[in-house]
Amino acid sequence: VGERPLSIVVFGATGDLAKKKTFPALFKLYTEGLLPANVNIIGYARSEVTDILAFRKKFIAYFPGKGKECHVDHFLARIAYVQGSYDDPADFAKLDAFLRNLEENTKGNRLYYLALPPTAFVGACTGISKAAMIPEEYGWVRVIVEKPFGRDLATSNELSHQLSQLLKEKQIFRIDHYLGKEMVQNIVTLRFANRAFAALWNANNIANVQITFKEKIGTEGRGGYFDNFGIIRDVIQNHLTQILALVAMEKPRSLSAEDIRDEKVEVLRCVEPVSLENCIIGQYTANEAMPGYLEDPTVPKGSNCPTFALMKLKINNDRWRNVPFYIKAGKALESKAVRIRIQFHEEVRPFLNRTQRNELVICAQPTEAMYMKITTKTPGLGKELIDTHQTELDLTYHNRYAVSLPDAYESLISEAVGGNSTNFVRSDELEAAWAIFTPLLHSIDKGEVKPLPYQAGSRGPAEADAMLAAEYRRNEGYQ
Ligand code: BG6
Repeated sequence: VGERPLSIVVFGATGDLAKKKTFPALFKLYTEGLLPANVNIIGYARSEVTDILAFRKKFIAYFPGKGKECHVDHFLARIAYVQGSYDDPADFAKLDAFLRNLEENTKGNRLYYLALPPTAFVGACTGISKAAMIPEEYGWVRVIVEKPFGRDLATSNELSHQLSQLLKEKQIFRIDHYLGKEMVQNIVTLRFANRAFAALWNANNIANVQITFKEKIGTEGRGGYFDNFGIIRDVIQNHLTQILALVAMEKPRSLSAEDIRDEKVEVLRCVEPVSLENCIIGQYTANEAMPGYLEDPTVPKGSNCPTFALMKLKINNDRWRNVPFYIKAGKALESKAVRIRIQFHEEVRPFLNRTQRNELVICAQPTEAMYMKITTKTPGLGKELIDTHQTELDLTYHNRYAVSLPDAYESLISEAVGGNSTNFVRSDELEAAWAIFTPLLHSIDKGEVKPLPYQAGSRGPAEADAMLAAEYRRNEGYQ
């Protein structure tokens, strides 16, 4: 990883994200030798920490198991703490002096991780840029930020503008943790390293694409946060739109971060803004085991906030002419899954008794897998050509690979340390993604559409299933 000292500063070090995700991921990278030996990790937050040993120990419970015992003490010994605010440059100057001391004024690199609420982003980046930078000839400075990046196109653009006055785009690493998931990272390889898929990947062969996110849990305890955003801002505008971009983009000229992100932006700009007619929103109600969304005491009375959405997106380019992309996401549903389903056209003249479409399914959660539904002749004595059934070419990762799959944060932080921005969201990508959903979000915010009720633990509003069923009928056959 190189010999330069690396300082990793975790802002918001006393918060939940830092405790549950950032520090455990750093621990894992440390145990795997993916951080320089002379790394220092500095927690930074507003609260006073008088007992550094107690502060360090709080993280242990969240460390991933393997390798834990022999590395824990070494890792914890590398953690320091600096107290300071996010809006006073003097506190950043203090942090800078602390870092210089650790770096012994030698050339060093700095990674700032903002595990902070969005209201603190600009203050922290101002402090960094004014008081805690390293001259470029001495080393790099990178800043990891995590959503929410605004609430709509205008507020996101405003935030991007403010950050651009403080840092260079190449220094900003916007995390979308879905881009760190193994199956999401694999989409580019699957599509472009396999002739069989590359050749089929267009409107001639593909009837529709479905990107689905389902969670069993509701918004327990997070209702107050969630209500400000809703399911579209929480997972669709970011996570699922990133998946869509990877599934739909053209082949990049190279594997460079800029070439890949150029293609993602290009295709996102071809997506029509979603209209109300192409969207169904829902809100969950109680079942025996779970209170309804509106019964969460942290949720404002009578809130219109969607906890479910199904929408049809259109991509206006030749590759995807007339191919609907359906995005479905919901909380408090019947199962937990993140899946991409690519449905191929029916044959014009169906062979034998075959009626089912080929389908390629990529499962990112709960188990990583990819399978292709195909029709085969039923094997066995006495079975004839006419005896067919549907089965799968199945690549379930835990059956094939012994390697344990990394957590998304581990992959992404490691990529940021290595300076690879491919799996981080560029500002123009963010802008293109917001443009797709902003008119719809404004209509929902104004109450122009009311969420349909669905019972917690169900498949979502019945109207959503009906919409998909009607769409399938309409799209059947070769187009
Ligand atoms: C987060 C959302 O970004 O992603 C959460 O804010 C959601 O509401 C989570 O539960 C899902 O992430 P994962 O990795 O558990 O699928």
